[in-house]
Amino acid sequence: MTVVVSVQQAVCIHRSPASEVVALRGADLTVEEGELVALIGPSGSGKSTLMAMLGGLLRPSAGRVEVLGQDIGRLSERQLLSFRNRDVGMLMQGPERNLLPYATVQANLDLAQLSARESRRDRRRRAGELLDAVGLPDAGSRAVRTLSGGEQQRVALAAAMAGGPRLLLADEPTSQLDHANGVRIAELLRETRDRWGTTVVVVTHDAELGDSMERSLAMRDGRIGTEGRRGERLAVIGRDGTLQLPPDLLEQFPPGGRARVVRRADHVELHPVPPDPREAGTP
Ligand SMILES: Nc1ncnc2c1ncn2[C@@H]1O[C@H](COP(=O)(O)OP(=O)(O)OP(=O)(O)O)[C@@H](O)[C@H]1O
Ligand SMILES: [Mg+2]
Repeated sequence: MTVVVSVQQAVCIHRSPASEVVALRGADLTVEEGELVALIGPSGSGKSTLMAMLGGLLRPSAGRVEVLGQDIGRLSERQLLSFRNRDVGMLMQGPERNLLPYATVQANLDLAQLSARESRRDRRRRAGELLDAVGLPDAGSRAVRTLSGGEQQRVALAAAMAGGPRLLLADEPTSQLDHANGVRIAELLRETRDRWGTTVVVVTHDAELGDSMERSLAMRDGRIGTEGRRGERLAVIGRDGTLQLPPDLLEQFPPGGRARVVRRADHVELHPVPPDPREAGTP
């Protein structure tokens, strides 16, 4: 299998004059070609930051991010631009950020296809097919700003897919859709993978969309903590050996506390160790 995404110990620090926020703190992730992956996790856990990095919009502050064989941290601005235009399709969180509001739907799709390798005729055909697939076959001549939020979201997804990307990144693609349209989008993502071999990574709070993906990765505090596959939930061991405990165990194992690790023949036991009273009160 070809590895499409390889993230090793990625750190991302958002710096502004007023503050520094560490959004990723040693994230590890591997995605193979043609996988359908859902990224889930609480607000602020770093999902959009990770997506921005995979899409070449952000470089890692430390660690390594390789996408489609390109080392994102080392590409020049020009190389990043061509990578973004040619190889990845990206739907950013908030549909309005993805489209030109005063241009028509068709013009937005044309723009998204500027770097596509297909002929003009094939591009038009693909754009038409995508509008059909998102349930907006007649929207081509409408200005984006006249569409509802959910319609804009569907056009934005069509635009992300219009250039025929090898990797499709979609941040909350169904957040503004009703159930029927949400199901339609989940089907479209799967069909796209089946037909073109596209690798798909979506961020979602939508349980149904999450379940329709083959693998789900749960982020917490800037790392991938657990992974779900076929209904089973697995903890992920980071490259530095760290393991995130499931949140429901944190009462028993408070962060910053101690645990005794006992090795058994075929498994390992973890026992909470009560805090040492002599340590209490010392600075
Ligand atoms: N441009 C930025 N400047 C400063 N801090 C930022 C910036 N972007 C994100 N952050 C911070 O980084 C952390 C991770 O943000 P991120 O947007 O990746 O979270 P998320 O998991 O996508 O959350 P949500 O589910 O709410 O979209 C948050 O604490 C956020 O406030
Ligand atoms: Mg987000």
